[in-house]
Amino acid sequence: MITKCLFPAAGYGTRFLPATKSMPKEMMPVVNKPLIEYGVDEALEAGLNEIAVVTGRGKRALADHFDTNFELEHQISGTEKEELLSGIRNLLDSCTFAFTRQREMKGLGHAILTGKPLVGNEPFAVVLADDLCLNQEEGVLKQMVDLYRQFRCSIVAVEEVPRDQIHKYGVIAGEMIREDIYRVDKLVEKPSAEQAPSNLAIIGRYILTPDIFDILEQTAPGKGGEIQITDALQTQAQTGCVIAYKFKGKRFDCGSVPGFIEATNYCYEKGLYSL
Ligand code: G1P
Repeated sequence: MITKCLFPAAGYGTRFLPATKSMPKEMMPVVNKPLIEYGVDEALEAGLNEIAVVTGRGKRALADHFDTNFELEHQISGTEKEELLSGIRNLLDSCTFAFTRQREMKGLGHAILTGKPLVGNEPFAVVLADDLCLNQEEGVLKQMVDLYRQFRCSIVAVEEVPRDQIHKYGVIAGEMIREDIYRVDKLVEKPSAEQAPSNLAIIGRYILTPDIFDILEQTAPGKGGEIQITDALQTQAQTGCVIAYKFKGKRFDCGSVPGFIEATNYCYEKGLYSL
């Protein structure tokens, strides 16, 4: 059973400056709900109620968001505005939240390794909150947790992206074992279009088995001089098994302005925010 979900949230969010100068990018609201709250909703729907967040300097708003604000609650108590807090109140009642800090920005792999004391020796999910994933039926994490029951190994969510976008992603190649499932044998972090082994890009949803921590400890800095989860997964794929899953649903790159606007319009039209 997977119960833990790790949110690496220490990054600077430079693509969204000046908005992210003093505000964590994970707190950017899509309509009226912060990105990270969409991610925690998705985790809880998948049955993951132990939330672990890797934060950094200037990210205190994240811990405050997942806490009670007595003054505010008192102020709006008995008014119709209370309803707006029902979603977050439900998350606070249903989940536990643990925080740790990444002191140096050394890459996603390093951020995940920083979360080790919060995760321990069990399989866990990872959500990159700026990839907003929505599906009318089961959420993407729920789909992946179900798949984990079958395969019992690390799983990455993938999506086909145009060749001219592939350099922004970790890219996989492998043997197709079902229309939407690959057994991965190659993973490359942000390759050029010429060097990409396929057009299947990794999206910010992972299920990782805990041996990934030992692998990460041994993983040398890769692309951009950072410790990459993609490289650690390559080692895991060589020694064990890694699955790539073409998920059902829509994904918005909310780390970019166009993706963020697209997500905002979509959530507004579908009423997917805090009503
Ligand atoms: C990270 C990963 C990359 C993955 C992407 C998904 O990159 O390193 O492999 O494809 O997330 O969003 P980042 O977007 O943080 O540069």
